[in-house]
Amino acid sequence: MAEQDKTELAGAAQKLPRHIAIIMDGNGRWAQQRGLPRSAGHAAGAETFRRIATYCKELGMDHLTVYAFSTENWKRSAEEVGAIMGLLKKYLLESIEKMERDRIRLKILGDLTPLSPELRELIAATDEIARRLPGCFQANVCLNYGGRDEIVRGANAFFREHPGEELTEEKLSAVLDTASIPDPDLIIRTGGEYRISNFLLWECAYSELLFTDVLWPDFSEKDIDSAVSDFQHRDRRFGGVKK
Ligand code: FPP
Repeated sequence: MAEQDKTELAGAAQKLPRHIAIIMDGNGRWAQQRGLPRSAGHAAGAETFRRIATYCKELGMDHLTVYAFSTENWKRSAEEVGAIMGLLKKYLLESIEKMERDRIRLKILGDLTPLSPELRELIAATDEIARRLPGCFQANVCLNYGGRDEIVRGANAFFREHPGEELTEEKLSAVLDTASIPDPDLIIRTGGEYRISNFLLWECAYSELLFTDVLWPDFSEKDIDSAVSDFQHRDRRFGGVKK
């Protein structure tokens, strides 16, 4: 291998993931272990999200995407759903105050139609602020999100706009919730389960996957460091072969 090729390979291996996506699992068990209600686990999880988003921004990443509430999570008790929606409302209100100061764009992804008018208004307000922060670090929060639902909504939107036209990968990508977001380089799932649970199904085609037993509320900046280091040792070929 030529010296220049070796240097390029070493450079690529050291690359920071541009976009990390996280399935924040383990809030319930974290709470249970402490004799607390599940909602306390979600509250601790929301704090972890704030810390990790700040850290990813400081490291120089472009995007962090988290799975906050899936299209299937409505099956949980009204109390638990209410607690998660309450935490999201709190986070949206804080974001309206702080996004410009912190230079963090917040984007909510998912089917927002069944959300309360209050939450939708807050999301519209954060969207408006995000428009004034082009190029800033972006935190994407998936809310009433499901990968299959995203693809079906996107395809339906496409055919409504372009009846009879043939869909291509590019055209579908352009109508998804993630249209303006690069695919995740690395997807982390905390909480010791080894599945993707309907998260970013289209976008994860070439993502590196990392599973950890750490429960989400305990996930720390050190865990991001070790995930990044693990990522930097992966050999990403995107279906090609090593040069
Ligand atoms: C999965 O853990 C977690 C969720 C379904 C909810 C995640 C929500 C938050 C962290 C709070 C709101 C988020 C933001 C961004 C402000 P689980 O409850 O399934 O855990 P378990 O497997 O231990 O029961």
